[in-house]
Amino acid sequence: MKALQNILLGLLGASFAQIGVFAQDDDSSAEEGDLTVEQGNSTYFNPIFPGFHPDPSCIFVPEWDDTFFCAASSFNAFPGIPIHASKDLKNWRLIAHVLNRPEQLPRLAETNRSTSGIWAPTLRYQDDTFWLFTTLVDDEKAPEDASRWDNIFFKAEDPFDELSWTDAIHFEFEGYDPSPFWDEDGKVYVTAAHAWRVSVDLDFAPEKEEEEAGITAFLTQNHHLDLGVVYLPSGSETASFPGPRGGDESAVEEGDLAPHLRFRAMSYLPVPDTLVVPLPGAWAGETLRLEISAKNNTHYSFSAGPASARSQVQTIIDVSNEHLSWGFNGLALQKMG
Ligand SMILES: *[C@@H]1O[C@H](CO)[C@@H](O)[C@H](O)[C@H]1NC(C)=O
Ligand SMILES: *[C@@H]1O[C@H](CO)[C@@H](O)[C@H](O)[C@H]1NC(C)=O
Ligand SMILES: *[C@@H]1O[C@H](CO)[C@@H](O)[C@H](O)[C@H]1NC(C)=O
Repeated sequence: MKALQNILLGLLGASFAQIGVFAQDDDSSAEEGDLTVEQGNSTYFNPIFPGFHPDPSCIFVPEWDDTFFCAASSFNAFPGIPIHASKDLKNWRLIAHVLNRPEQLPRLAETNRSTSGIWAPTLRYQDDTFWLFTTLVDDEKAPEDASRWDNIFFKAEDPFDELSWTDAIHFEFEGYDPSPFWDEDGKVYVTAAHAWRVSVDLDFAPEKEEEEAGITAFLTQNHHLDLGVVYLPSGSETASFPGPRGGDESAVEEGDLAPHLRFRAMSYLPVPDTLVVPLPGAWAGETLRLEISAKNNTHYSFSAGPASARSQVQTIIDVSNEHLSWGFNGLALQKMG
């Protein structure tokens, strides 16, 4: 594979100069080899990594003689997580696989689907060490199944030396695409992704008309979708509750203040009408759970129910995300009120 790679690179350009790199140590290893650098004008192929090299994560490392390194996803292929190196961003050489010994991550061999295994890695250089963060995913498991995600990292002092890459080191996170950040005070933070759902449990006893608490999908003060519990005169509803209500309806006189669920939206684009539904009498006095979840690629679901009984949670409304994100995902979800 390496030989083939070198031949392919050799065919790409007109004039090449082989320069020795990594002469930083007097015993610098021959395995590090040479990386090709082109002189003058030439052409190159785009994409720079032809074939199956998804999710490239690339860094420039001055300490390693101004070299670029890229890692790629490899799903359940073995050896996995290829590392390529380049001096000129055109000519790339496969220098190692992070996953080169089955015992580094035995569970890789148990993954079944071709979309399972190693998902998008993040390659970093910090404290004289190369760090590779990634997630081993069992893609056939449900997103809410915590065992679907195995978040891991590997370290290497010498990225060219396959034996230098450590066994997988596991850390707890339910999600994928982890990315580390080293703060100046020495703390390390890892961000990552998840198909999200956010909820709040609300103990709320309003006393005045229009008093409200709830949750919001928020972009700016001019773009937000809100679901709240609000104290309003009975009869204010614009729709009936989408599900069984229960409780003693006759206890509330027309015009008496009573808790309602209210969905309101604001955006530069036309938004759905404000929706007000009475809070089911059966939930009176209970801690309520309000929830926003990603229903699919284009819509949020806003739901409410008693915190103690997930089976009773009802979707109040599904709303398009175009009011907030116009197709990009840049949302903050927060409590309001
Ligand atoms: C590269 O091409 C440009 C445009 O044709 C030319 O001006 C320049 O001299 C060339 N450079 C080299 C190093 O050949
Ligand atoms: C892969 O499939 C086999 C056979 O159905 C099953 O026993 C195993 O648990 C599966 N692996 C995972 C990680 O789900
Ligand atoms: C996403 O959900 C909305 C609301 O239920 C629905 O109208 C839309 O068709 C769904 N889109 C897809 C791609 O399933």
